[in-house]
Amino acid sequence: MEQEKLIQLLADMTLEEKAGQLLQVAGSYFEDEGFVTGPENKAGFTAEELKLAGSLLGSAGAKKLMDIQKKYMEQHPHHIPLLFMADIINGCRTVFPIPLAQGCTFDPALSERLAQAAAAEAAACGIHLTFSPMADLVQDARWGRVMESTGEDVFLNRQFVRAMVEGYQGKADEEGRVDLSGKGKIAACVKHFAAYGAPVAGRDYNAVELSERTLLDDYLPAYREAVDAKAAVVMTSFNTLDRVPSSGNRKLLQEILRAKMGFEGVVISDWGAIREMLSHGIAQSEREAAKLALEAGVDIDMMTTCYCRNLVCLVRDGEIEESLLDRAVLRVLELKNALGLFEDPFKDADESKERELFLCEEHRALARSSAAESFVLLKNEGMLPLHRKGQRVAFIGPQVENRSIFGAWSILGRQEDTVSIADALKKEGLDVIFARGSLFTEDERLMAVSGETRQDRARSGKMLEEAVLAAGGADAVVLALGEHRMYSGEAASRAQITVPSCQLELLRRVCEVNPNVAVVLFTGRPLDIREISDRAKAVLVVWQPGTEGGSAVVDVLYGRENPSGKLAMSFPWCTGQVPISYHEFSTGRPYEEGMQDRYLSRYLDIPNRPLYPFGFGLSYTSFEISDVALSSDVLRRGRNAAIYAGVRVKNTGKIPGSEVVQLYIQDLCASVARPKRELKGFIRVPLMPGEERNVEFAIDESMLRFTGIDMKFASEDGRFAVFVGSSSETMNRAEFELMS
Ligand code: GLC
Repeated sequence: MEQEKLIQLLADMTLEEKAGQLLQVAGSYFEDEGFVTGPENKAGFTAEELKLAGSLLGSAGAKKLMDIQKKYMEQHPHHIPLLFMADIINGCRTVFPIPLAQGCTFDPALSERLAQAAAAEAAACGIHLTFSPMADLVQDARWGRVMESTGEDVFLNRQFVRAMVEGYQGKADEEGRVDLSGKGKIAACVKHFAAYGAPVAGRDYNAVELSERTLLDDYLPAYREAVDAKAAVVMTSFNTLDRVPSSGNRKLLQEILRAKMGFEGVVISDWGAIREMLSHGIAQSEREAAKLALEAGVDIDMMTTCYCRNLVCLVRDGEIEESLLDRAVLRVLELKNALGLFEDPFKDADESKERELFLCEEHRALARSSAAESFVLLKNEGMLPLHRKGQRVAFIGPQVENRSIFGAWSILGRQEDTVSIADALKKEGLDVIFARGSLFTEDERLMAVSGETRQDRARSGKMLEEAVLAAGGADAVVLALGEHRMYSGEAASRAQITVPSCQLELLRRVCEVNPNVAVVLFTGRPLDIREISDRAKAVLVVWQPGTEGGSAVVDVLYGRENPSGKLAMSFPWCTGQVPISYHEFSTGRPYEEGMQDRYLSRYLDIPNRPLYPFGFGLSYTSFEISDVALSSDVLRRGRNAAIYAGVRVKNTGKIPGSEVVQLYIQDLCASVARPKRELKGFIRVPLMPGEERNVEFAIDESMLRFTGIDMKFASEDGRFAVFVGSSSETMNRAEFELMS
């Protein structure tokens, strides 16, 4: 529809109809299978409000959504189509690895392909927009939603956020335009703006307390990347930032998002977030909350009655300008128009296409290969890969037969579609034995989450003895342990990020009877795995791998796939060490392991370094990286646009593999303290046995910019250290000087 017709449509709408366009309700108000992903709205909605609502969330299904759309449009005074939104976070019906696992691939192009496949399935089942990517930087594994991020590094997150936006929407053209109406495309909504990933004490929804410089340099760039990639929508976060809730934060939404980042699309609140300003204590009524949010710049009110029950009176009472309401409504109409919904309200909804794409061979193959690429091999003392012949392996643990191995945000994932480890092994006809060995947990609180009961617990002793017997009779043991899928995700913070004690007991007993133990760890977050790391000969982190997770585990365990994942988030020594990140500061009293001085920045009881650092991951082969060489030790502003840091990488092992070569830079002295190192580049290098290759990183002045003492974003002359290696702990170092 032409813009002037949109303007005319807006002009023809009553205040009630305008306010209705800004209401988003759960699909469960329109059908009985809608996914409810937040607290129920006790107020409910009147039939009149539902009649005018502008969008739904959490419903899927071509036929269902076409029926809803048809009925809704027939009764709407202007026959404006509904927008259908949903959390398509890591796949749709075919479930891919959780975003944190995708971050461990260091392969944004892969995530773009996953987002394309997810978009094709979602579009076919009638969804127009996904609440993805989540661009929140995370450093605290107590927070359950680290599983939904791509980790602790701002540079890495930016690459993945852009890849996902472009995977869902397609790439912008030279004029920065994206065709959201294109077949198989869905609009992207970047979230949660802003800095939701840094809640105090790692407790979900808690306050976020950041310096402005940390917010600007570390937490905002990934959202900006999504905006630059033309994400259609931005979602406000639940948290306060500088004690102001994001949905009422004019500085955040007007000055930063609209003015500085240039975002022109729709801003949607997170579920109930506008009304939650009463709980935050900055509004005393829904009317006040509605005024705060609209003036701050929130366009759509997700799942509260604040907007639909107050905006009309606020305008009529002269407390807000109708133009403010019009601006928000026009953005929503423009989004619907950009999706082509006025011409085709059903867009890509197509039952036969849905059947064709859901769980199709191509998407299953993508789920399997991406899962294998996301696994991180943390330890391997000659135990993996296993041998197909002549090795009797006992597969033990609560994850062996578990099909619920898709992340907490896999709203369309189904156990019946998912391949467990046991399913995959049975398909291969391998000489293996199975034993459950333990529950997920025997902790009362966690049992409630994983649905285990006291009756289950009564059987745990027998389970354990059966497992020990199986382990004693095998050549090798694979222990499939870790978190139930719902131990992470939203409202799933854990104060003790440990492996449940009953699983550790299983580990101890099995290791007593068999020295050859490999642990396969399913988890939505880094955990304290000291005991696993001490006792097992091999540790493979598989995260929550999705529909083909069991197949991918067997592919890697038996060497069909060679692991190449690198940690996108540090595994801490213990809970007390979090929040932790490689991206840390020297302090005035830097401590290195082994120093004896007392007055240093250290712990008395544990080391400063994590158990496994960001960027770390092993392979079944080995690689050599030569000393880093710089094309020049001077980088002049403006003149030679860049200098180059080069290494030679060689596969010194006997099987093909991929190494992720990483570039880190440290600003050695500046007007403010700078991190000890920052990731500035990475390259995945596939190499055949014996093959070697030159790898080169261009370093230019723009990579050295930060928010200085004057709060200006710029680089400063001086010396820099360059590190190139296979993890954030590499000491392969060189120096250069930036000069004017
Ligand atoms: C939830 C989440 C958000 C999600 C939204 C819709 O509360 O915070 O990430 O997209 O509600 O389900």
